[in-house]
Amino acid sequence: MSQSLKMKSSDFDVTTLSSHMGAEICGVDMSRPLDAITIDAIYQTWLSHNVILFRNQKLFDRDLVRFSRYFGELDLGPTMAWQPEEGQEHPEIYVISNVMKDGNAIGFLGDTEVDWHTDLCHSDLPPKATTLYAVEIPTDGSGDTGYMNMYGVLEALPQAIRKAINGRELKHEDAHTLQGELRHGVSEEKLRSLEEAPGPVHPMVRTHPETGRKALYIGRQYNGDHRAAYIIGMPRDESDALLDEIWTIIRYEKCTWYHKWQVGDFLMWDNRCVMHRRGSFSSKMRRIMHRTQIRDASLT
Ligand SMILES: [Fe+2]
Repeated sequence: MSQSLKMKSSDFDVTTLSSHMGAEICGVDMSRPLDAITIDAIYQTWLSHNVILFRNQKLFDRDLVRFSRYFGELDLGPTMAWQPEEGQEHPEIYVISNVMKDGNAIGFLGDTEVDWHTDLCHSDLPPKATTLYAVEIPTDGSGDTGYMNMYGVLEALPQAIRKAINGRELKHEDAHTLQGELRHGVSEEKLRSLEEAPGPVHPMVRTHPETGRKALYIGRQYNGDHRAAYIIGMPRDESDALLDEIWTIIRYEKCTWYHKWQVGDFLMWDNRCVMHRRGSFSSKMRRIMHRTQIRDASLT
């Protein structure tokens, strides 16, 4: 399904990528500064389609930072094991890669599968958007990124579950990474239970501050072997059972779209209504992605 957006000073084509979400924008060169009308049209397309894709881009980090800044202030990347190098020109760029250089990884997340999650749900101010730019991808085409429309997941939940989560909040554990490693400043001895773990509380059903639509906001199921969240004010066994029931439904992947990467692809997704995951790929393959994250001004 394709449509053209014609504007006063620029135009681009929008092609819908799936029935659940995703739109490809053609006719925009992200390496050049964009005018306000084009920027607004891109933003509106993003809000409508939740994930936008630009292909065949040739971007330096400065281009990626400039484009991302059109839509809000940028945060530095997740800091669990990473600090920007001193003197780094663009500390907003967070490298996701399995590539080793002089015995050290140049980025994060390696080559393993990364389970369904919402970025930084374990922080007080999760970013509204995450962007990824493909610098180098596995030559066998593996390492897809999956996206899930959480408006759709909420609408499809059985009534009994919707009733049970109505008005409920989740405490998200901030002690472990998605892979189960302890974050900086947390010791295992002090971490006797999920209830005692540091972490923020977010509503299970979020009203998107810009679209006004409601979406399920459930974060992560596990961080390694550790449960990642519990429902505030509910006995733990009931909370665990209800969350597992919801995660079973999520894993049917009814509202899902997978993106197969090409070098030069740029994706930007809305963390307020989309979860994502990554498929594993061979450790013999190189994958280098440059990432930014855009602050959610509605939370500050
Ligand atoms: Fe992520």
